[in-house]
Amino acid sequence: MIDNIDIIRDIKRLRKEKNAIILAHYYQTGDIQDIADFVGDSLALSQKAASNNADIILFAGVKFMAETAKILAPEKKVLLPDMNAGCSLADSCKAEDFKKFIDENPGRTIVSYVNTSAEIKALSDIVCTSSNAIQIVESLPVNKKIIFAPDRNLGNYVLNKTGRDIVIWNGTCHVHEAFSLEGIIKLKEKYPEAKIIVHPECELPIRLVADFIGSTSSLLSFTKKDDSNVYIVATEPGIIHQMKNINPEKIYLPVPPRDSTCGCSECSFMKLITIEKIYNCLKNERPEIKLDKEIIINAGKPIRRMMEISEKLGL
Ligand code: 13P
Ligand code: SF4
Repeated sequence: MIDNIDIIRDIKRLRKEKNAIILAHYYQTGDIQDIADFVGDSLALSQKAASNNADIILFAGVKFMAETAKILAPEKKVLLPDMNAGCSLADSCKAEDFKKFIDENPGRTIVSYVNTSAEIKALSDIVCTSSNAIQIVESLPVNKKIIFAPDRNLGNYVLNKTGRDIVIWNGTCHVHEAFSLEGIIKLKEKYPEAKIIVHPECELPIRLVADFIGSTSSLLSFTKKDDSNVYIVATEPGIIHQMKNINPEKIYLPVPPRDSTCGCSECSFMKLITIEKIYNCLKNERPEIKLDKEIIINAGKPIRRMMEISEKLGL
């Protein structure tokens, strides 16, 4: 058993020897965020995966993110330290069921959230992330009817903001649908000056009390620029690591889940990745993400379409 300092030193050595890059999502534990070459939200991580000089991308995040990296950089080896790091939201939308949904709602443009399998992306016209969902929908002609999948909360948020004709797949994330409104009220009673910041995957009652709604990177920029000192944070608490890095003097209060025994305000999938698994994965160069060529081509089109629009809009 080697200790953490040795593991971190060995990860750094292997990364250099193998010309590898470690990309980490904001929901990873602090030690992983600290060792990563790049930490970001889903959009920024996709952009980074598409433009780097490494031979190997080690993804400290969940499977749909690593798959997106492989689709955008098929010539690179993409590693995910634990293949069980899935996503309850992506799992709520299976390709067979989604095909039926498309048939039941013909003629609509299919906008899928990046939190989907590569198969769902391949069935879509355009992909979006929580950073650009509104802009992606607004980039479509006004008369276009839309299918939005899989997150019903983000879908409703986008529908309300854009007023477009959207039918929404009934999926949710087990973390973001579980936040307690009562828990927020209690925190607000204790810290009346606190601002409530919310990810758009949260349910409507939580979004209604928000001072600010945005993707993980937007929440981070908000706390960076805003002049408050206390924030009630309704997203996975891993993001608080970066918030503290930027403004250590501020107070960040994670919102508890409705069921306080389940510990579900942490994403159990994200937290499957550990420093030890990163080390083993980099050393053995597996588990590796493998996708069919056809899926890479078909899922790549809607992802690239999103990236082009995001780039034009400076997102
Ligand atoms: P972001 O794109 O905001 O990082 O969100 C990803 C995610 O999985 C939210 O649950
Ligand atoms: Fe998926 Fe939710 Fe985890 Fe994000 S927090 S990766 S949506 S299960």
